[in-house]
Amino acid sequence: MNNSGMGEKATELYTDVMRGLSKEQKYLPSKYFYDEKGSDLFEQICELEEYYPTDCEVEIMKRDINEITQLIGQNVQLIELGSGSSMKTRLLLDHCSGLVMYVPVDISGAFLEEVAAGLRSEYPHLEIKPVAADYTSPFPIPESEEIKKRVIYFPGSTIGNFRKKKAQKFLNSLAKYLSPGDGLLIGIDLKKDISVLEKAYNDGKGITAAFNKNILLRLNRELGADFDTDQFRHLAFYNKQEGRIEMHLESLETQHVQVNGTKVSFEKGETIHTENSHKYTIPEFEEIAGDQFSRKQTWTDSRDYFSVHYFEKV
Ligand code: AVJ
Repeated sequence: MNNSGMGEKATELYTDVMRGLSKEQKYLPSKYFYDEKGSDLFEQICELEEYYPTDCEVEIMKRDINEITQLIGQNVQLIELGSGSSMKTRLLLDHCSGLVMYVPVDISGAFLEEVAAGLRSEYPHLEIKPVAADYTSPFPIPESEEIKKRVIYFPGSTIGNFRKKKAQKFLNSLAKYLSPGDGLLIGIDLKKDISVLEKAYNDGKGITAAFNKNILLRLNRELGADFDTDQFRHLAFYNKQEGRIEMHLESLETQHVQVNGTKVSFEKGETIHTENSHKYTIPEFEEIAGDQFSRKQTWTDSRDYFSVHYFEKV
């Protein structure tokens, strides 16, 4: 397979992958975890005992759903960024009687259609308008006469994948979709005991390791690369300086891999940095949200591991 024979999507993937693998510290953009297999593995991560963020966020959403519903308000278009992780979305769809349209935005088109079909039959009164897009770039938002207010829902602390500057820029770009009085409901993982953090990304069943390695399998599938995942080890640790969990894939041997005809070499012990997952304190996150958004309410779970915030567009 050569570059000219690839589709637009594969070309973009190839360009991004080669950019990352040609750096001194090799890296792969974490958004590429989420093909169909990766989205499925991520759903499995959310069920893990060790992966506390999902349980904590669900605990908050269940306990405080009435307050959340109040803040979301009436005649609302709810726009969810990322694969509608069923439980939390359902809580909102079940309780927020003010919703007129639900717009899940996800990079994994197949996964999105599956979710949308299910929701349509369960919520016949709601307009379900999925948008298959990479929400880190501008995407189209469906409109309707009935909509008086937009609320963007960004659960799961997914914004933690961005570095501070990038997170600020991203929130500024979201603000452009909103009018004064519109909302942003966002889940943010909090700083906590390092052993709790590290366990969450090193689960006993090895699902997180499989999720991490799936990015290499995806390159094999979509770019005809020949990564042997047995030659790489899953690594996840807390970088205190940066306030984040880092995931890497460590090469167990000196080895050469072909990616679409290009040779990529690894030294023994060299890593590919595959993900950052930043953790914040509440004041640190408020600073990130900046002056486009004013914080109306913050909820945390009983252990203060996780936080959900409602911001209003200024
Ligand atoms: C979906 C980005 C929030 O960083 O915790 C889970 C992804 N990576 N286990 C996270 C993830 C490894 C997750 N986010």
